[in-house]
Amino acid sequence: MSDDTTPFSGDIDWGALRTEAEDAMKKAYAPYSRYPVGAAALATDGRIVAGCNVENASYGVTLCAECSLVSMLHMTGGGQLVAFTCVNGQGEVIMPCGRCRQLLYEHSVPGMLLETVSGIRSIDEVLPDAFGPRDLEEFHA
Ligand code: THU
Repeated sequence: MSDDTTPFSGDIDWGALRTEAEDAMKKAYAPYSRYPVGAAALATDGRIVAGCNVENASYGVTLCAECSLVSMLHMTGGGQLVAFTCVNGQGEVIMPCGRCRQLLYEHSVPGMLLETVSGIRSIDEVLPDAFGPRDLEEFHA
């Protein structure tokens, strides 16, 4: 589909991905913030994974939609993320929070694309100079 330097383009059906994110958003458990979030992503093998936020009475324990998306990625066969989108309860595209950008980075193909509030961006644009698995590998090499 792509090499290490070329971001994926062309084949990504952002509308379909957003529809999956909206469906996931409807499953959110967000009684505290009342801000449901749904996320969806295309995996390297072409399947779509999704997630919703799951809040907790102990607020800090809340799981963002990206957390359940990454769990679904691994629970349904692994692989990496090629393209990602995320919506709120009004179906508006929102940015993944800082923590979740790091979470997505760990599981992304190089150059993964995100639908953002400022258009299609690569993971490197939304998380510049990221710390990641390669830093640990290099340190221990
Ligand atoms: N939230 C997400 O699920 N993902 C994000 O990237 C941003 C924030 C959730 C967490 C919390 O349940 C609610 O949105 C309000 O912050």
